[in-house]
Amino acid sequence: MRDDLLARLSQALSDREERGMLRTLRTREPGADFYSNDYLGLASNNACHEMLLASLHDNPQWLRGGTGSRLVSGNSALTLSVEDFIAAEHQTERALLFPSGYMANLALFSCLPKRNDTILLDEFVHRSVLDGCRLSFAGKIRFQHNDLDHLENRLAKAKGKCWIAVESLYSMEGDFAPLHDLVALAGRYGASLIVDEAHAMGVFGYGLVCDAHLQERVFATIVTYGKAMGAHGAAILSHGTVIDYLINFAAPFIYTTGLPDLFAVTIRNNYTFLKMNPHLHEDLQDRIRHFSAAGLPTFSGARSPIQAVPCPGIARLAAVEEMLESQSLFTFAVRPPTVKEGSERLRVSLHAFNTNEEIRQLTAILKELHDN
Ligand SMILES: Cc1ncc(COP(=O)(O)O)c(C=O)c1O
Repeated sequence: MRDDLLARLSQALSDREERGMLRTLRTREPGADFYSNDYLGLASNNACHEMLLASLHDNPQWLRGGTGSRLVSGNSALTLSVEDFIAAEHQTERALLFPSGYMANLALFSCLPKRNDTILLDEFVHRSVLDGCRLSFAGKIRFQHNDLDHLENRLAKAKGKCWIAVESLYSMEGDFAPLHDLVALAGRYGASLIVDEAHAMGVFGYGLVCDAHLQERVFATIVTYGKAMGAHGAAILSHGTVIDYLINFAAPFIYTTGLPDLFAVTIRNNYTFLKMNPHLHEDLQDRIRHFSAAGLPTFSGARSPIQAVPCPGIARLAAVEEMLESQSLFTFAVRPPTVKEGSERLRVSLHAFNTNEEIRQLTAILKELHDN
């Protein structure tokens, strides 16, 4: 590699390091988990794994690798049946599986909005939605987070067919989108609403769209399986025509190896396990109430498993994170560029398996830091 290129890359890394924003890979350490998306503990639930292992034992053919695009050799009767299962569970017409939520958003936003259309994006939507939009020739306009007046103002001026992109539960804020109002507003302007349910799926039943019976009024929903569902992958839920269109035109679906059967069967297994263990939702809500009782400042929703505690200043945030880690309390320090400079925060993710003692320990430290 040319020395001047390496020098340029090193310079970018040193700049980041100087600003306290360097990203590095770390391994999971033993301690209290306040940072993973495994809200219900399914990812390491032995009973859930036993159920999966028993079905794999009877069906070793499910261990076969992906082998090719789903349009070539990578499709199977199992994957199709799991998609039918997902669609039936969510009471939607069809479901299409993807290897990740990132890929699902890339597929949807790169392929559906066309030149002369306009995509209206909540300013806090996930990077995968933004990257999907970058691949589309449609115009893109951001509106202020959860601000319906601002969105309406933008809709009134927008050109062509309009698409609205939101998350039902925001990943860095832990607050909820006003789904009923959004559906009504989209309806008034003939816009198509797309809802990313990555963090709500599994935490609130099958997501907030399904919970509120809004499937018919939302153009498409993205659910992911690597968070509360304890597995991996994602599905786009929509009308049959939309799914057939994606199969024909979405490059991130066509030009990649299909999701292996093992992933599909794990997803189905975890849906079934969750149905058999509804208490996990209540356990999680109980832990959220326990955290909230400490009265820390947060702008997150009262029932949200994501509680964002403002902690402005990169250096201060790093010191808080380090201090918590020294007590084996693992949270996620959200720094720029993930959020704007000045709006740094500590993201506390709560889980059905967190103990009240762990929560007490964490909130006591945070309260002391906040009060001093
Ligand atoms: C809101 C949102 N959408 C999509 C994704 C991507 O999902 P996946 O991790 O399955 O790629 C994430 C992941 O962090 C997310 O938070």
